[in-house]
Amino acid sequence: MPWSNDKNSELVERARRVIPGGMYGHESTALLPADFPQFFSRAKGARLWDVDGNEYIDYMSAYGPNLFGYGNSDIDAAARKQAEFGDTMTGPSHVMVDLAEALVSMISHADWAMFCKNGGDATTMAMTTARAYSGRRKIIVAVGAYHGSQPWCTPNRTGIVDDDRRNIITYEYNNIETLEAAVRQADGDLAGIFATPFRHEVFSDQMIPSVEFAQAVRKICDAQDVALIVDDVRAGFRLARDCSWSILGVQPDISCWGKAIANGHPISSMVGSHRFYAAARSIFATGSFWFSAVPMAAGVETLRLIRETRYLEQTVELGDRLRAGLHEQAAAFGFSLRQTGPSQMPQILFHEDPDMRLGYAWVSNALKHGVYLHPYHNMFLNAAMTAADIDQTLQASERAFAELKADRTRIPANENPLVLARLKLAR
Ligand SMILES: Cc1ncc(COP(=O)(O)O)c(C=O)c1O
Repeated sequence: MPWSNDKNSELVERARRVIPGGMYGHESTALLPADFPQFFSRAKGARLWDVDGNEYIDYMSAYGPNLFGYGNSDIDAAARKQAEFGDTMTGPSHVMVDLAEALVSMISHADWAMFCKNGGDATTMAMTTARAYSGRRKIIVAVGAYHGSQPWCTPNRTGIVDDDRRNIITYEYNNIETLEAAVRQADGDLAGIFATPFRHEVFSDQMIPSVEFAQAVRKICDAQDVALIVDDVRAGFRLARDCSWSILGVQPDISCWGKAIANGHPISSMVGSHRFYAAARSIFATGSFWFSAVPMAAGVETLRLIRETRYLEQTVELGDRLRAGLHEQAAAFGFSLRQTGPSQMPQILFHEDPDMRLGYAWVSNALKHGVYLHPYHNMFLNAAMTAADIDQTLQASERAFAELKADRTRIPANENPLVLARLKLAR
C-alpha cells in the first residue's frame, strides 16, 4: 500500500476545531516535519500504525513508556487480572505495597516510595519534599533540563509569571563551577539540586556526565544538608536496573520515576532514602487517579521483567548495531551524523545542518519507508525490537540517505518558526 496521510489530514482539521491547536504538548507534531502523522490507530510490540494504516518500526516508544513492547502479554495480563478485582477504589489495593517493596528492593538508595501519575507529579513532589526537609526555598536545576510542564519547570513561559520561577536557579549541566556559583547565589537558602542522569535536551547533543561531576553534586548536597534529586523519569531502567547514577557510583537522596516503570500503564513514583522519610510524609500530595491498582499491578510485572530478562543488554546491543550501521551509511552517502547519548536512547542530529533541514528531510524519507525516527528528540529502543527490525531499519535509512543525497541541493530551508525559535534556544 503506498504511503498516504489523507485520513490524518482530515482528523487534524477536525481536531483543530475542538482541541486547542489540534493537539498540544510533547506529542504534538507542530515542530515535526509536516508529513508526520499526528494520530495513530494501534501499536503492538515495536510497531505503530497511523490512522491511514501506515506501519512503522517505532523508535519513540511513546516518548519512553514502551520498554518491553506495546501490549506486552505478561504485563497486560497482570493489568487485566487486577482490573477484574478493581482499579480506582475508595483506597489503594495491596499491590501498592507490593510495588513499593519491589522498587525499594531494586533501587539502592530507596527506602520508601510514593506513587503519582506523571513524571511532573514526581518531580514536583520531590521539590516540595526537599523544601519540607530543609525549610529553605531555592532549587537548582540545569539550564534547559526538562522536569515536566508545571509552572516551576515548563520550558514554555506563556502564562507563567516570574514568581513561579523566583526560587529556581540554573547551572550548566556537567559543569562544577557553574553549579558552585548557583549554590553561592542561593545564599544559604538552598533546598535541593536536580540532575537528570545524562543531558537529554531536545535539539541538542546528549551528554553523559563525568563521575567527578556527579560526586561534586553529592558532596555539595551533603555539605549543605539538602536533597540531591536524580530525575530518572526519562532514562529510568533504560541505563541500569537501579537508579541511573548507580553506574557513576553516586546515590541521590530522592529519585523520580515514570514513563517506563509500568510499560505504558499510567503511573509514576518518587522514591527516597530514610533521611527524607519524615519530610515526604509531611507533604500533602495526591490525585483522584494516583492510587488506581491496574497500573500498579502492571508495574509489579514490569519490574519482574526488568529483574529477570536481558532487556537492557538487548536494547544496548540493538542500539549499538543501529548506531554502527547509520554511521557507515552516512559516510557512504557523504553525510556526517552526531549520534550521542546511550545507544539505547539515541539522539541523531546532522553535522553542518544549522536549520536542521537535512535531519528533517532524512526522517521524513525514512517515515515513507516504514521507520519512525525523530529529528530533534532522543529516541528509545525497546525490548520487543529484534536484530531483524534493526536490519529493516537500516534498509529504510539507506534509502532515506540515498534520497537525501539526490535532493541535497533542493531541500527547502526549515522555515517552521517554532523550530527556528527552539534552535535558537538550544544554541
Ligand atoms: C526527565 C523528565 N522529567 C520529567 C518529565 C515529565 O514527565 P511527564 O511528562 O510524565 O509529566 C519528563 C518527560 O518527558 C522527563 O523527560
